[in-house]
Amino acid sequence: MSSAVRPGTRIALHTGKGGVGKTTISAATALACAERGSRTLLLSTDPAHSVADVLAVAVGGDPTPVDGVPGLWAAQVDTRGRFEQNWSQIRGYLVGVLAARGMAEVQAEELTVLPGAEEIVALLELRRLAESGDFDVIVVDCAPTGETLRLLALPETIGFYAQRLMGTPHRVLRNIAASFTGIPGSVPTTAVRDAFSELLAELMAARTLLADPDITGVRLVLTPERVVIAEARRLFTALSLYGFTVEAAMVNRVLPPDAGGEFLRRQREAQREALVQVSESFEGMTIHRAPMIPGEPVGVQPLSEFARMVFGEGDPLASTCHSLGIDIEGADGQYRLALPLPLVERGDLTLSRSGDDLVVTVGDVRRRISLPSVLRRCTVSGAQFDHGRLLIGFDADPGQWPQSLRESVLGDVTEPMTGTA
Ligand SMILES: Nc1ncnc2c1ncn2[C@@H]1O[C@H](COP(=O)(O)OP(=O)(O)OP(=O)(O)O)[C@@H](O)[C@H]1O
Ligand SMILES: [Mg+2]
Repeated sequence: MSSAVRPGTRIALHTGKGGVGKTTISAATALACAERGSRTLLLSTDPAHSVADVLAVAVGGDPTPVDGVPGLWAAQVDTRGRFEQNWSQIRGYLVGVLAARGMAEVQAEELTVLPGAEEIVALLELRRLAESGDFDVIVVDCAPTGETLRLLALPETIGFYAQRLMGTPHRVLRNIAASFTGIPGSVPTTAVRDAFSELLAELMAARTLLADPDITGVRLVLTPERVVIAEARRLFTALSLYGFTVEAAMVNRVLPPDAGGEFLRRQREAQREALVQVSESFEGMTIHRAPMIPGEPVGVQPLSEFARMVFGEGDPLASTCHSLGIDIEGADGQYRLALPLPLVERGDLTLSRSGDDLVVTVGDVRRRISLPSVLRRCTVSGAQFDHGRLLIGFDADPGQWPQSLRESVLGDVTEPMTGTA
């Protein structure tokens, strides 16, 4: 699916552990982009919005020009409002079902607490704004790690369930609906089904946009501390597994070399070791260092100075990394699937086959990869790691998911399982 975004548009997603400086770094990056002449939107998808606090200006649901900075707009996704606007059909159906169960007092906006609703709105808004043509750059301040992963994995997760639900005969759906609601016959109408299909298509388009390495890059924000680096490493692996390009590591709160006193000297020593670990972990990626500054970088002027310390006069979005997608090669019955999986330890990985899908699990993150038809008719001949990629060999064979994989170099492949991302 090709995206309707103007060529050259860039989306820079910032994520990382709570409190590391995502909002600050996002705001500084957006300011620097605007100062270099790009029409830039700073967009927060974190429900705990703090873009307004960091910029020290009022920010609403729609892009608002930031005073004193030509070319910079800011917006915080208004989850509640958009959900109501866009999904009245689905909401109407759900409210109807709940009302019929004696919950007449249920207010439509309460449905925003449905799992995934906020993420859905954030994705749809991001896509709408990217396709509006109003911005050259959209700098996104995301929620902390776990929520961002949920956001980015959402289209595939919903797609998995939706495909199965859409393909379910009416009779079965009616039984399912009845067992949930206690009301016989409360089956979604065609209009509701259409609304779901449309929603799904839009989510998939948003995913396509975010997985396009020419448009979107994820920037990991971290601090030079072991626990934070460990989380950033896992996030890097998980994002790669989902097919997103991680283009930069933004190391924040780096102590300046001349910070005085014994206490700071020791802290700097610890940071030095951590910074080596950062370079090793994110080799090949652009690594920016942002200094710890004595006061909070809050407000346009301090943030702009902070941005200059981080990026100098260079392009804040310049990236040295080349993204690697899922790649399949081979011929004559022997094929190889390569999947980027940086920083994975042998014991973290589990592979299995579920129907036509290959299920890859790394720690507690799982992705279903729909196999192309040629590979569905193959068995796995082996698997190995190579330069941050997992290489899986396939041989043409109509047999089952093979024993051979368990005996492959991975050595830790478990029983086949079902489930979704
Ligand atoms: N380099 C820095 N030097 C000094 N203070 C900083 C620096 N970076 C961030 N801060 C301050 O640290 C606090 C947390 O920063 P920020 O809100 O950007 O983090 P966050 O990752 O967005 O947090 P959350 O996970 O809660 O969204 C803020 O008060 C911010 O001003
Ligand atoms: Mg924040």
